[in-house]
Order: sequence, then C-alpha cells, then structure tokens
Amino acid sequence: MKVLAIETSCDETGAAVVADGTTVLSNVVASQIELHRRYGGVMPEAASRQHVLAILPVITEALERAGTGWEDVDAIAVTRGPGLSGALLVGVNVAKGLAWSRSLPLLGVNHIEAHLYASWLRAPGEPATEPQFPLLGLVVSGGHTELLLMPSHGTYERLGRTVDDAAGEAFDKAARILGLTYPGGPAIQAAASSADGREEVLPRAEMPGTLDFSFSGLKTALLRATQETDTPDVPALARGFEESVTDILVRKTLAAAEVHGVAEVVVAGGVAANGRLRSRMSEALGGRLRVPRLEYCTDNAAMIGAVGCYQLARGQIDGLALDIDPNLDLAA
Ligand code: KG4
Ligand code: ZN
Repeated sequence: MKVLAIETSCDETGAAVVADGTTVLSNVVASQIELHRRYGGVMPEAASRQHVLAILPVITEALERAGTGWEDVDAIAVTRGPGLSGALLVGVNVAKGLAWSRSLPLLGVNHIEAHLYASWLRAPGEPATEPQFPLLGLVVSGGHTELLLMPSHGTYERLGRTVDDAAGEAFDKAARILGLTYPGGPAIQAAASSADGREEVLPRAEMPGTLDFSFSGLKTALLRATQETDTPDVPALARGFEESVTDILVRKTLAAAEVHGVAEVVVAGGVAANGRLRSRMSEALGGRLRVPRLEYCTDNAAMIGAVGCYQLARGQIDGLALDIDPNLDLAA
C-alpha cells in the first residue's frame, strides 16, 4: 500500500510517499525558514503564498524520488488541522484536486497524531519495530505541548497539556529575548552547548497534582535575568532555559509513564530534535523510549503518510467534502 502525503500546516511545504505506514520511499520538505526569519516568526500570509508556489514541484519531486508513478499510488493523505487556516487550505485543495482527477481515496490527517506516528517511520531496508501499546506520547512542537495516552492505533486520551505557551513557542520567545535567531530551538541548543559548564538556574513551573505544563513564567524569569545586567551571559542563560524546560518535560513524562504503566513512550514534534531532551529522556526511560529520527521530528509529510496508511487500512476515508479545521483536537 502506497500513500502520497501532503503537509502545509505551518511553514514547511512537504510531500512524501510512504508504504505500509512505516517505510519512507521519499520525503521532500521545502522550508520557508529564511522567508520568516526576517519577521522573527511565521507570517501566515507569506506562508500561504509560498505554499502555493512550492506545492506542485514538491509533489512531483516526491513521486520522482520514490520512483512511483500515479498508477502505484493507492490514496492521498493531507493535513487538515491543526494549523494556520490559509496554509492548510493550500494543501487540502491541492489534495482534493489530485484525488478527484485521479479517482483516489482522500484521507484527512491530524497533524498532532502525525507527529506521534513519526516514530513508526524507517528508511527502506531498516528493520521494522512495531510500537507496543499502551503507549504514552509527548508531543512538543511550536504550537503544541501535550501528553497523550494511546491504548491502540488511532485512540487517544489527553493526560496533560500546556496552559499557556507551547514548548517550541517558549524556545522561540526565549531566543528572541537572548538576541538569537528564529527558529529559537536550534539557536538555544547551540548557545547552551557552548556554556562550558556555566548555567544560570531558572525556575520550573511544577503545576503540582497535574500533568499540565506552563512555560510563560520561565520566559518572564529569563527576561528579568537578562535585564539585570549589561553583559548577560547568553550561553549560561540558554543552558538554564533548556535545563528548565527539559527537566519539567522529563519529570512529567516519567510520572505519566509510571501512573499508566505504559509499554513505550514516544517523544515527538520539533522540540524532540533537542539533544539534551533526547538524552535526558533516554536516561529516564531507557529501552521504553521511542524518538523519531531527526528529520521526522520537525514538520514533514512522511509522518502524514504514516497516519494515512493506517486510516486507509481501517477504511477511514474522507470524501471530497473534506475541510480544514485549524483547531482540530486529538483527544477530549
Ligand atoms: O513540529 P514543528 O516543526 O512545527 C510545529 O508543528 O509547530 O516544531 C517547530 C518548533 C519550533 O518552535 C522550534 O524552535 C522547535 O520546534 N525546535 C527545537 C529544536 N529544533 C526545532 N526546539 C528545541 N531544540 C531543537 N533542537
Ligand atoms: Zn508540527
């Protein structure tokens, strides 16, 4: 089974061909980072226009790299939400046009769910490792921070979420405070790793008795610490920020894993690319941890294709009436 997948929910234009929910035959990502850097964040109108320009060449390249003709494609999967409405509309409308003209089933995919399924993906020839349920998922991206319990394919219960900023958003805002470039995550990670053992310890929002997160107080603490001196130690502050976010994410994930007795834990989304988070999660969870390969952590279409394959196998097919939902939820 081969699915052509399309992702345009934010600032990456992606297309991929995925076989059987796990094997990535191609994964093409046209990043708009340079376009948005001058604004210090994603400019929604500019993102939509850029998706319109990039989407068809990206799809053509994905099919070519996979060595796949239209006759080999079994369905088209596309992100329908959550995300920026203008950006989502580009992908969904292109997917509808292609599904109609090629008489193919159309599959609307939830972007958050796709971040979790990124940990199923492997290159052709790599051994397949089926996930073990019940599974705990921590999705940490630019727009979301959620702890989800996944008893089986396609079923979710939300255990916790951020009450203010998403973890990735906090990295982006912290980078701006420290005068670093957008996107903030990689910039903070690079600055922190040059701290040479120095660290400005910053507070952790414990949110006792819940599995929820809060990062806005940390941002304010970082701003104050930066303003206290004329010569802020940027690497030490970046390290303190990274430690605070990582510490809370690891502790809450570990607590949820123990309470719910899960078999495996998936950490996914753009922030899962963070080296410190990956190593601390690995120390805490050992063999129970599943983290997607780096290229599948940040937004891409291969993860959309993975979900699409499972939806197609279940017969969960959307017709041409499929619509975007910028606020699409995964679990109650
Ligand atoms: O999943 P993603 O590509 O897009 C959304 O769905 O939001 O996540 C983007 C976020 C950005 O906030 C970016 O700063 C963060 O992921 N990020 C990182 C790292 N790489 C990307 N955060 C921390 N460390 C990184 N190495
Ligand atoms: Zn994402």
